[in-house]
Amino acid sequence: MAKPVTKYICQNCGYSSLRWLGKCPECDSWSSFVEEIVYSDKRKLSSNTHNIVESKITNLSKVSDIDITEDKRVVIGMEELDRVLGGGIVPGSVVLVGGDPGIGKSTLMMQLSDKIKDHTILYVSGEESQKQIKLRCERLGFEHDEFYILSETSLEIIAAIVDKLKPEIVIIDSIQTIYRNELESSPGSVSQLRESTAAIIQIAKAKNISFFLIGHITKEGVIAGPKVLEHMVDTVLQFEGERTHAYRVLRAIKNRFGSTNEIGIFEMTGTGLIEVKNPSEVFLAQRSRGISGSSVSASIEGSRPILIEVQALVSSSGYSVPQRTATGFDYKRLAILIAVLEKKIGIHLSKFDVFVNIAGGIKIDEPSIDLAAAMSICSSFKDSPLDADMLILGEVGLSGETRGISFADRRIQEAIKLGFKKIVLPKNNLKNIKKSNDLEYIPVENIQDAIRLIL
Ligand code: TYD
Ligand code: MG
Repeated sequence: MAKPVTKYICQNCGYSSLRWLGKCPECDSWSSFVEEIVYSDKRKLSSNTHNIVESKITNLSKVSDIDITEDKRVVIGMEELDRVLGGGIVPGSVVLVGGDPGIGKSTLMMQLSDKIKDHTILYVSGEESQKQIKLRCERLGFEHDEFYILSETSLEIIAAIVDKLKPEIVIIDSIQTIYRNELESSPGSVSQLRESTAAIIQIAKAKNISFFLIGHITKEGVIAGPKVLEHMVDTVLQFEGERTHAYRVLRAIKNRFGSTNEIGIFEMTGTGLIEVKNPSEVFLAQRSRGISGSSVSASIEGSRPILIEVQALVSSSGYSVPQRTATGFDYKRLAILIAVLEKKIGIHLSKFDVFVNIAGGIKIDEPSIDLAAAMSICSSFKDSPLDADMLILGEVGLSGETRGISFADRRIQEAIKLGFKKIVLPKNNLKNIKKSNDLEYIPVENIQDAIRLIL
């Protein structure tokens, strides 16, 4: 039996130390060390190592001999979810689903189960009672004959039940509540998370069962502590959104079986999540035309172009240090855009608060919406509205130049579908796109050009 040792483990990144530390030398987080009892597991090379090596050598496979025909994926039938998973659930895969509490992770998993009625599913809940789960099922109109609910947190018991029931899919809600008896640290600690997940991965691979592990996110936005889990599992999905908005975005952060750029969009309603298949229309639906501080740009999320409204508000500041707030837009990019506007256009924003918001509660990381954000800021500053039928594309560099963007054609096609008439785009992009006679193109070389031509 291995000897128990007390160690201090950083709950953020899993770094371990023999004494308590105020700041983690690995990930720089403060007060993240918690005392945990771990069992040192130094296996001695046994006398039969020699035999094991011999047998492994005779069984070594050549790359050319390995069978790579993938087991058939389970297609869920929810397009938004299937796409993010890379085309359905891969048998034997382990998927971590992270998100803020209350965002809809349990609901999503329940709806997934409802869609695949011909598969045996075990739903392990460490957070809610069977009654609560049944209530949610009723709310969602859930019907599934081979859906089993287990209220349990001990991994040993769960493993034994999985062994008996032989489900095809197991959902663990949440991984933070699961513990292994051999470890003395409490559920949710890094050692418990790591060990439980390692054991689950073994079961998944040995028995070809797919697991979905639900994980809560900490304030910092990492999947609680389990940054350590991200490299262990096959796929990491993040469910995000503003709780005050109905829209939710499911994003693949890591995917061994598909692209990581894909997103799925859902709307939370009184009877569960519904898929949003026409996000551009939805995000632009509440736009008012003819007001200052609003422009439309296009972002590419995975394989899909999505049109979004970039709103800005510039108002005189009551503070000595003006406020800068970015919602759904990168804060650092906002600071850069303001600096470029001050330097190149000569508008002085130091006495003004600047707020930038992507309507609908979606978060966009792409720099191709820079020019639209800059134009919205200028439009609000001058209180002069931009043409509502205009799409603005382009990244803005530090000297105010507009840089070419990728997939311009796909973005423009989406704008045509929604009836846009004018396209503002970097000069570099103009020669490479398919032109349409119904559109007016306004090529710009820098931010000064853009202001002169459209504001
Ligand atoms: P839930 O799936 O429990 O979130 P999580 O598992 O991520 O903590 O869903 C939480 C919220 O969703 C809760 O505040 C209620 C709301 N909700 C709806 O609006 N409609 C529904 O049909 C359901 C089931 C939940
Ligand atoms: Mg839940």
